[in-house]
Amino acid sequence: MSAEQLRLGVNIDHVATVRNARGGAYPDPIRAAKIAEQAGADGITAHLREDRRHITDADIDGLMAALSVPLNFEMAATDEMQKIALRHKPHAVCIVPEKREERTTEGGLEVAREENRLAHFIAPLREVGCRVSIFIAADQRQIEAAHRIGAQVIELHTGAYCDAHAEGDYAARDRELEALREMSAFAHSLGLEVHAGHGLTYETVQPIAAFPEVRELNIGHFLIGEAIFMGLEPAVRQMRRLMDEARA
Ligand code: PXP
Repeated sequence: MSAEQLRLGVNIDHVATVRNARGGAYPDPIRAAKIAEQAGADGITAHLREDRRHITDADIDGLMAALSVPLNFEMAATDEMQKIALRHKPHAVCIVPEKREERTTEGGLEVAREENRLAHFIAPLREVGCRVSIFIAADQRQIEAAHRIGAQVIELHTGAYCDAHAEGDYAARDRELEALREMSAFAHSLGLEVHAGHGLTYETVQPIAAFPEVRELNIGHFLIGEAIFMGLEPAVRQMRRLMDEARA
């Protein structure tokens, strides 16, 4: 297959993390989102967590009003989040697992175990026009279940691949990469749109960006960290450049 254009979704959660460390108004995640847009982001991703530890309800209101690119609204499969999504009708909703005590989204969603509930949960979101994405591990069983419940998109969790790279365990990294490659192709063969993300950096992005089936990468923490050193606009531009290079 020919590689279609690869979109970059910039996750601005951790601008809000820094803001909330002091409880004031800055740095402003909406300003960050607008800068990311100018730097070539095709979308903005924000995760409204149950405990509101970073993005707040007001941030979602602000993003919906201010963005020129689509918002990818990450949320847990709870009634509260479903109501908020149905009120805003963002372009995309990404369903993620959420545990209060975790530092970040640790694994993919267990779709296979909760198929019935999730099918009912996403149906109204699809009805109002949201593209529904499910964040899952590179596991055939989960992909098949995501397909059966009617998701249009899956986002593959790249965390284990990135962690293995950071730890210098290159054999594990290559195994994870191979699983991601195979499962991207498998999901695409079912007609699902394939996205990927979590933990991606300048060092780890290119092998994933080179998978022709992957249409979108969602990247946050590393970019916000790099922004401290070089500014957000150059940090996003550099990621965009590496993605385009890998794709070419
Ligand atoms: N995709 C999903 C579904 C996520 O939950 C996250 C983290 O919020 C990301 C992508 C971005 O991960 P990171 O901040 O590590 O780049």
